[in-house]
Amino acid sequence: MLWAAPGCFLLWLLPSVLRARASLGTGPSSSLCQQSPTKASCKGAGLRKFPKELGQGIKYLELTNNFIQNLSGSTMPRFGQLEYLDVCFNQLEVVSATTLAQLPRLRSLLLGSNHLDRNYLANGEAFHLLGNIEVLDLSVNNLESHMASWYISNLTSLRVLDLSGNTMTKLLAGTFRNSPRLRQLDLSNNYIMEIQEGAFEPLEELEVLNLALNSLHCISGFSLTQLRVLNLSHNALELFSEEEEEGAQPYLLRVLDLSHNRLLSFPELPRAHDLTHLNLSNNLIASLLPGSPHPREFFLLYKEMWRFNRTVRPVAALTHVVDLDLSNNRLELFPFSFFRSLGSLHSLSLARNCLQDVARDSVSNGTELSVRSLDLRRNALRVLPRWFFDSLPHLESMDLGSNSLQPCESQGSDQGRDLGGDSHTSAPGDTCTPFYSVPRLKHLSLSKNNLSRLQPHAFNRTPLLSLDLSENRDLSMPPGALGGLELSLQELSLRDNQMDEGRAALPCLGTLRVLDLSGNHLSLLPTGLSCSPLESLDIRNNNLQTLGRVGSWSHSLRAVSVAGNPWSCCSLGWLDTLRAAGVAVPDLSQTRCVFQEHGRNVSAGITGTPRELIEKSSKTHSFQWKAFTFFWTCIFKEE
Ligand SMILES: *[C@@H]1O[C@H](CO)[C@@H](O)[C@H](O)[C@H]1NC(C)=O
Ligand SMILES: *[C@@H]1O[C@H](CO)[C@@H](O)[C@H](O)[C@H]1NC(C)=O
Ligand SMILES: *[C@@H]1O[C@H](CO)[C@@H](O)[C@H](O)[C@H]1NC(C)=O
Ligand SMILES: *[C@@H]1O[C@H](CO)[C@@H](O)[C@H](O)[C@H]1NC(C)=O
Ligand SMILES: *[C@@H]1O[C@H](CO)[C@@H](O)[C@H](O)[C@H]1NC(C)=O
Ligand SMILES: *[C@@H]1O[C@H](CO)[C@@H](O)[C@H](O)[C@H]1NC(C)=O
Ligand SMILES: *[C@@H]1O[C@H](CO)[C@@H](O)[C@H](O)[C@H]1NC(C)=O
Ligand SMILES: *[C@@H]1O[C@H](CO)[C@@H](O)[C@H](O)[C@H]1NC(C)=O
Repeated sequence: MLWAAPGCFLLWLLPSVLRARASLGTGPSSSLCQQSPTKASCKGAGLRKFPKELGQGIKYLELTNNFIQNLSGSTMPRFGQLEYLDVCFNQLEVVSATTLAQLPRLRSLLLGSNHLDRNYLANGEAFHLLGNIEVLDLSVNNLESHMASWYISNLTSLRVLDLSGNTMTKLLAGTFRNSPRLRQLDLSNNYIMEIQEGAFEPLEELEVLNLALNSLHCISGFSLTQLRVLNLSHNALELFSEEEEEGAQPYLLRVLDLSHNRLLSFPELPRAHDLTHLNLSNNLIASLLPGSPHPREFFLLYKEMWRFNRTVRPVAALTHVVDLDLSNNRLELFPFSFFRSLGSLHSLSLARNCLQDVARDSVSNGTELSVRSLDLRRNALRVLPRWFFDSLPHLESMDLGSNSLQPCESQGSDQGRDLGGDSHTSAPGDTCTPFYSVPRLKHLSLSKNNLSRLQPHAFNRTPLLSLDLSENRDLSMPPGALGGLELSLQELSLRDNQMDEGRAALPCLGTLRVLDLSGNHLSLLPTGLSCSPLESLDIRNNNLQTLGRVGSWSHSLRAVSVAGNPWSCCSLGWLDTLRAAGVAVPDLSQTRCVFQEHGRNVSAGITGTPRELIEKSSKTHSFQWKAFTFFWTCIFKEE
């Protein structure tokens, strides 16, 4: 987490437990405190007052989750050495000046989740004496804008301030006038709709600002050049732009979170040269081209929106962005040329947009993107042309789940790239995507792509470590489909494909460790398995009656999940073998087997191997009859 507010994220004890403890005696009990010479902690000790018995030299005192109402002189012992005081989650409503005057060394005061909206005038006056306080937590105190302002109005040493979870509706111009040293400011989770001009102006050292979960509609002329982290997530922003001033200082901003807003366009950040993380997920961006959106697309009217008619390239400066999240927007075209200037981009998400196509204009022809991890889940892509992969030479991981892509065939090891379009053109008639010969691709998901039939050598010469082909109902996988992955593939998912054994042919995958075959119609395991040093196998929800003689793959196996198959109670020898080999069967308690009784199929829980079952039940009357029938049914069947 970027916002490291101290304290307050402590365990909430159950109120009933607290009440029970509080009623044990009338006086507060410091025996529930843990104490060392300089530290004392009385979390959830049922205290109503300050613990009196604590030693003189305490520097660090934690009193969270108690019932303390007042910090007033009469009830408080002297804590001349105290530097850190945490009274979060109490009932605090009165703080007196005489008390605070006794804490000359206090640097950190954490008062989150109290009732400091009550008596705020008198309390605030007392706070004016806290000239040395550097860290102050006033979160969740029901504070309105003017109350918060009053509390901090004379705290000149403040470095870290938490005002999150209050009821502020605006930031008043003078609020931070006397706290010029503030570095971290959390204003998240309020109702801030308005930031008065100059409100942040005194904060020349501010590095981290959290304004998430407010009601801001527009940020223009953003001028906090020294800021490193800005969180504006979960507001109602339609517009974000930097200050427009020629020759102004560059920004030091590194992390900008604009997710969950109503942005219609890429934010204007012409001077954010240091930006590394930019989150624009969950907005309404439909195009990244200059000149969009059109002013009439805005919900509200701003004078700044006319600027969008210019042809600025808003990303020209973003050469350090490593991580760009554009998921859940409204893009229809993979905006290839747009990403060209983002020369450090490693991780790009365009998941949950409306991408139907990738387009290359003459400008982007031949350019290469630095992207390593690309998330294109839940779009409407039907084809990715060869040039697309050629333009992403560093691609290692690609999630294409929930699209409509069909892999092309390749001709086996000698002629990897001959089919599926040459490397520079993408014929309009292409219907398949060449996943072969993608030189660095290690992780690929084609889950939920309505794949019907995999072509031979579809992934040949692509060094895949993991491949997800799950949830492609009725997928058919001929023997050569995974050809070429024999010496690389380590994880394979064929989950929920409703495949029978005729359609699930595996080659000899010599490095496969994790295999998910659950949710199919297999009555036999694929023979190719015997090649693989499997460690984890999931065969739940198939048609398996027995595993027969458990193959050599069981030697490396650590866990196998087996529930949801019609296992035959009479041939559970495989289970004995697995267990003897120390293989875990985590879902054994949900696993049932079937035996015949008077021509009917009877299903029974597998609680152990058959022999154990019979031995155990012969001692318990209730099982005796069943075990007897069962035993004879098996003998009969084996004959
Ligand atoms: C807290 O202070 C208020 C006002 O000063 C006073 O009325 C009340 O009795 C005090 N409560 C305790 C528990 O000391
Ligand atoms: C504000 O703080 C300064 C020292 O930090 C102190 O001298 C002054 O009295 C305080 N002002 C008020 C109104 O309490
Ligand atoms: C911004 O705030 C939101 C809401 O509290 C949080 O989920 C998100 O992780 C924060 N973003 C960053 C970059 O810390
Ligand atoms: C962007 O924000 C969304 C929503 O808050 C979050 O789920 C996602 O992980 C963030 N992306 C990055 C790359 O941090
Ligand atoms: C955009 O600019 C062009 C030419 O510069 C102008 O004709 C057009 O009216 C402008 N559109 C808007 C919405 O301002
Ligand atoms: C891209 O460049 C190649 C040659 O490098 C050329 O044959 C092709 O026509 C160009 N395509 C476009 C769309 O400009
Ligand atoms: C899935 O593919 C089949 C052809 O293989 C097609 O008839 C069907 O419409 C596709 N379904 C969806 C949801 O795209
Ligand atoms: C009992 O199960 C076997 C194997 O699943 C099946 O072939 C047979 O039809 C079933 N018999 C009845 C009576 O349901």
